[in-house]
Amino acid sequence: MLLRLHSIARWCYLHKIPFVPRVIKGLIFLLFSCILPPECSIGSGTRLWHHGWCIGILPSAEIGRDCNIYNQVEIAGGDDDQTGPPVRIIIGDRVNICTGAKVLCKSGTLTIGEGSTVAANAVVLSDVPPYSLAVGVPARCIPKKRRDVIRSKQPASVG
Ligand SMILES: CC(C)(COP(=O)(O)OP(=O)(O)OC[C@H]1O[C@@H](n2cnc3c(N)ncnc32)[C@H](O)[C@@H]1OP(=O)(O)O)[C@@H](O)C(=O)NCCC(=O)NCCS
Repeated sequence: MLLRLHSIARWCYLHKIPFVPRVIKGLIFLLFSCILPPECSIGSGTRLWHHGWCIGILPSAEIGRDCNIYNQVEIAGGDDDQTGPPVRIIIGDRVNICTGAKVLCKSGTLTIGEGSTVAANAVVLSDVPPYSLAVGVPARCIPKKRRDVIRSKQPASVG
């Protein structure tokens, strides 16, 4: 329902139909406490879990395909006043952004590489390479290779 409303709003926005995108954006906020502007693009197969509860997404964000975004995730600019240069946040395909995580871009472009996971409550302030796990505040990235090595060193009983 949430993403269907967003796709209608986005279609109207892309076809320059006035008012409707703003009305749907307001409706989405009222129904789901979710800020999902029609300007942001969301790839097919992407899910906003728990009805998108308390998710906030920047208008200039581009979200790839088959991503999972959980409740209370914020994808936003790093400034309060929004007067700085425009920022862009690009989320690759198959990215998971766990509950409570924040992705903040103060200037330029911030990219989360495909296949990455942003752990719960992490605060991402810079690029995340593909197939990484970003954890902590500010987030540190653990490359997939390193994680595989760590796991292969663990005894079988530890899992
Ligand atoms: C990301 C997550 C899935 C763990 O993934 P994982 O691949 O199993 O990662 P690991 O447990 O091997 O942890 C790897 C490292 O990250 C750390 N880490 C994992 N999650 C973390 C978190 N949320 N915050 C801080 N550090 C975290 C671990 O302590 C470990 O650190 P170390 O290398 O110093 O020992 C999990 O931590 C998480 O955030 N789950 C939340 C899922 C969620 O939001 N579900 C929605 C429910 S509504």
